[in-house]
Amino acid sequence: MNTATRTALITGASSGIGKELAFVFARNNYDLVLVARRKERLEEIKETIKKEQSISIEIIEMDLANIDSAEKLYDEVAGRNINVLINNAGFGIYGDMNNIDIKSEEKMLILNIITLTILTRLFAKNMISNKQGNIVNIASTAAFQAVPGMASYAASKAYVLNFSEAIAYELKKFNIIVTTICPGATQTEFADVANINSKVFNSAPTAKELAEFTFREMQKGKITSIHGVTNSIMTFASRFSPRKINTSIAARMMK
Ligand SMILES: NC(=O)c1ccc[n+]([C@@H]2O[C@H](COP(=O)([O-])OP(=O)(O)OC[C@H]3O[C@@H](n4cnc5c(N)ncnc54)[C@H](OP(=O)(O)O)[C@@H]3O)[C@@H](O)[C@H]2O)c1
Repeated sequence: MNTATRTALITGASSGIGKELAFVFARNNYDLVLVARRKERLEEIKETIKKEQSISIEIIEMDLANIDSAEKLYDEVAGRNINVLINNAGFGIYGDMNNIDIKSEEKMLILNIITLTILTRLFAKNMISNKQGNIVNIASTAAFQAVPGMASYAASKAYVLNFSEAIAYELKKFNIIVTTICPGATQTEFADVANINSKVFNSAPTAKELAEFTFREMQKGKITSIHGVTNSIMTFASRFSPRKINTSIAARMMK
């Protein structure tokens, strides 16, 4: 496949997995559209890539947690042929339902669910016309069970997983591959943003490992990919135990 003129749009490219995805796609000769709120971070990433790669990089500073964000972003890149859409931007909030800020929770649900869904719909239309495209949605191992302490975050990722697997089936006939990546704990800014104080993140895989894994799985045409052997085993094993037990194990792990 000639990747010289392919373009990847990455949401949440200013840190963590999204930032490393920008480097991986750049190394593989993709032109890039990088989206996040922190423009200066995106500029730094662009500068770093430009030292090594002569690809085109467009930066879009945008808050994707507004109800009309997806349409705005789509309009901003109108006319560009986006071959790969990566819905990576997302965040979590740690705390019992009664204790978390309701406005932050609303923003999280808009970003993790609404923006991801509408971006997928809008860009898929062009991909259908082109009879070609990749959509990569970043879910989580939290998608596979209820997680007390992160109830709505985990539920938002269950949505991402189920939505993505369903449309992977629908879009296959148009030669569009939808790949859902399920990272476990990964060393990024995620834990700080979510206010999680857990040692698990210190020894967790790096964002670079996740980004390289994501690229490989996309290229293989995978539908659902869980990162890491332990995560894969735990996810598989949870199919055979009662949901109530899975919930209490998840609750203990969050403590
Ligand atoms: N790290 C983990 O343990 C883990 C595990 C499972 C799944 N995930 C998922 O992996 C994805 C990437 O997260 P990460 O771990 O790389 O965390 P991260 O380092 O905090 O990166 C999150 C990215 O999302 C962007 N973002 C957040 N809110 C946004 C908004 N309102 N508008 C636009 N962009 C926004 C951030 O950019 P700005 O702040 O500059 O806007 C940042 O670039 C998320 O979907 C997360 O749920 C992470």
